[in-house]
Amino acid sequence: MLELGRSGKDMRRVERYAIVPLSKEAVADGAIAKPDLVEAALRECWKALDTHTREVALALPASAVITKKILLPATASEAEIDTQVTAEANQMAAFSLDEVSLDYQVLGPSTRNPGENDALVVVSRRDRVEERVALAEAVGLKTVIMDVDAFATLTAYGQMAFHLPDNGKGQTVAIIDIGANTTHVNVLHDNQPVYQREHALGGNMLTNEIARRFDLPTEEAEDAKRKSLLPDSYESEVLQPFLDTVALEIGRALQLFFSATSHQAVDHILLAGGCAAIPGLDDVVHSKMQTSTLIANPFAKMAVSSQVKARQLATEAPALFVACGLALRKFDPA
Ligand SMILES: Nc1ncnc2c1ncn2[C@@H]1O[C@H](COP(=O)(O)OP(=O)(O)OP(=O)(O)O)[C@@H](O)[C@H]1O
Ligand SMILES: [Mg+2]
Repeated sequence: MLELGRSGKDMRRVERYAIVPLSKEAVADGAIAKPDLVEAALRECWKALDTHTREVALALPASAVITKKILLPATASEAEIDTQVTAEANQMAAFSLDEVSLDYQVLGPSTRNPGENDALVVVSRRDRVEERVALAEAVGLKTVIMDVDAFATLTAYGQMAFHLPDNGKGQTVAIIDIGANTTHVNVLHDNQPVYQREHALGGNMLTNEIARRFDLPTEEAEDAKRKSLLPDSYESEVLQPFLDTVALEIGRALQLFFSATSHQAVDHILLAGGCAAIPGLDDVVHSKMQTSTLIANPFAKMAVSSQVKARQLATEAPALFVACGLALRKFDPA
């Protein structure tokens, strides 16, 4: 959980954040498998966050939504848009519309079709949305925004583009978010999303290997991994092979991107997600891919409250990438 505020007129400030681990069984393939475990983790996290704010922005995993770009006449009234979006959603979803949550966003004038606007329609099974809202409500939180993790990643990227030559204009940038079980690949060209995909790769692989090799319960292995409190043989025998695997998988993921699109190269790799904090990962990826590789810090341009430990935030910033994209969203106060 992350709370952003303001510092002066134009600057954001990291007010507070909290991270609590979620046990492995809680979420499977992006679906909430054990709601009670998720609720307990939310409650603990909310308590650790220690804030009066109750409004939250949540995200669905990209795997739980279907998206489609459509064209809308620039002159369409709200009622006409409604009708067209509903008709589109009806075709996109495999089930009836009363089981579906749908939303759309007008993106702006279409470059190819003068007089029309590009719009993005997003549908999800309603129960996927409702289960998340209900969990938040169970711990006293009010959901004011339901986003999609891949979109939140793009929002957070907006805070990072200035790191890149010419603010990312004309560049191809791959954001690789390596979590516990899943790696999300989002590629942008000229700051527009061009590719998105999930892969089964994450830090739990490393935790499991630590548990096996050093005969530790999973929770202890997880803790030892994060604190780098492991025998000398860890680095060469466990960590290095894992880093090599990650670099190899990133290479494969980008090959998939190249074969699915007309792109043949990426100019920059941004590493996000909890695993981006693993010491040395950026160097291994950089040397394997021969591509400029940065660790994503979406807070580089923000002020930081004096209550937040700046050094810890620097390590944990990549894990907060999606949370940052969500916290940047605006909403109308009730
Ligand atoms: N300092 C650290 N050193 C090594 N690994 C870390 C560190 N901090 C977090 N991780 C690892 O990062 C992973 C969690 O990353 P993140 O918080 O991005 O996952 P998630 O988004 O919850 O998972 P998923 O995307 O798979 O659903 C865990 O495997 C955790 O062990
Ligand atoms: Mg993740």
